[in-house]
Amino acid sequence: MAQRISHLLQADPSDTLITVEGWVRTKRDSKNFCFFELNDGSSLKNLQIVLDKTTEDISEEIDRVSTGASVVFTGILVESPGKNQSVELQAKSIEVLGEAPAESYPLQKKRHSFEFLREIAHLRPRTNTLGAVARVRNAMSMAIHNFFQERGFLYIHTPIISASDCEGAGEMFQVTTLPLDAVPKNEAGRVDYARDFFGKQANLTVSGQLEAEIYALALKNVYTFGPTFRAENSNTSRHLAEFWMIEPEMAFCTLEGDMRVAEDFLKSVFAEVLRVCTEDMEFFSKWVEKGIAESLQSIVEKPFVHMPYTDAVRELQKAPVTFDYPVSWGVDLQSEHEKYLTEQVCNGPVIVTDYPREIKAFYMKLNDDEKTVRAMDVLVPRLGEIIGGSERENRYDLLLDRIRTMGLNEKDYWWYLDLRRYGSVPHAGFGLGFERVIQYVTGMQNIRDVIPFPRTVGSAEF
Ligand code: 4AD
Ligand code: MG
Repeated sequence: MAQRISHLLQADPSDTLITVEGWVRTKRDSKNFCFFELNDGSSLKNLQIVLDKTTEDISEEIDRVSTGASVVFTGILVESPGKNQSVELQAKSIEVLGEAPAESYPLQKKRHSFEFLREIAHLRPRTNTLGAVARVRNAMSMAIHNFFQERGFLYIHTPIISASDCEGAGEMFQVTTLPLDAVPKNEAGRVDYARDFFGKQANLTVSGQLEAEIYALALKNVYTFGPTFRAENSNTSRHLAEFWMIEPEMAFCTLEGDMRVAEDFLKSVFAEVLRVCTEDMEFFSKWVEKGIAESLQSIVEKPFVHMPYTDAVRELQKAPVTFDYPVSWGVDLQSEHEKYLTEQVCNGPVIVTDYPREIKAFYMKLNDDEKTVRAMDVLVPRLGEIIGGSERENRYDLLLDRIRTMGLNEKDYWWYLDLRRYGSVPHAGFGLGFERVIQYVTGMQNIRDVIPFPRTVGSAEF
């Protein structure tokens, strides 16, 4: 069995014959030796391979190798005279499995733009940056599950196909088997969804929250971690049409408890990724966002700022800058406002609470002032919102009123209302956008580069 390069880079020299396999990043020739940098995805660093090319019968094999070729080497691990690594492989044999002809292989030894790499998303994980993103993404997934599992939260698999619009924003992708060129109509001339696959209109979910609430009101603390879909026509560096969301939901919990969990959760994930992905985080700190690892460390160490929406509006109104979107009480915060609050006012993450009811979803608990709701958004520098959450309206009459005034069809929410009729308790939760938090941790500027296969307006290749 071949050895992993990450493991070998930490190992001591030894006379045992070992095998390594991977893709060649570079090949360099000297008079008697050929040097290869080999990567197998297990670490950012490559393993240096030194091959004595004076052996007649391998020169043909060496000629087949160029950047991108897949190769298997056997040899022994020796101390390296080079300054970049402590060990290297002194190869005894080389076997090329797949060539990568230099005339056509798009990834050459130079810096490629992220825009270009998006066009070759089938090859981009072979670059340093995208490989590091994949390892960080993996480590963060595990850190997220561990955080909740250690605290007794149950992982609930909420449905991907859903008949309700959780955010009430109407930004959903429809799921249908009706023939699009001859859609059946009912007597009123509307689409006859009774004849559709589910017998009613169905969509890809925008959030697992409503179903998570069902389980929270039986099992107390639960979370979902799955794909969510939004047909928002937002062509920005922070929006995807398909993204992953982590949504804890906690019964017997108010907004205060919700915010405490959100803060502990983010800090714990940051600390874990710094611990597990040290090398990759050094890479991001050096090449992508200067000093990001230290700045994350300092965020882990200090408490988040809390600020009610009304105070945030006041801060923005006295800001010595002109915003594209003017600010007054009642407007939704735009990303320029979120950036200003985090970067100029708070110098770090801030939890903004108690937003006007008009700009938030129907399920949020109404405050006694009857103007604001028990909402909380976690905003961070560079990105703005990464978490949106709230205490839920657990009072039947008030919830029904909210559903009606927002023009939603109460029949669609009968089971959601039932949760308020039987054993209702204060409960709260939030949603963390997984790609947004990966952007935050790595400093990657565009959300399309932190998900393996981005789906955005006009783009679903690969
Ligand atoms: O604020 P949102 O819409 O909240 C909800 O969906 C709630 N149901 C969550 C809950 O309370 N259980 O979305 C939550 C987070 C946002 O803060 C953002 O990080 C991310 O999801 N998000 C997106 N990420 C990428 N692309 C998009 N189009 C996103 N829309 C939201
Ligand atoms: Mg939100």
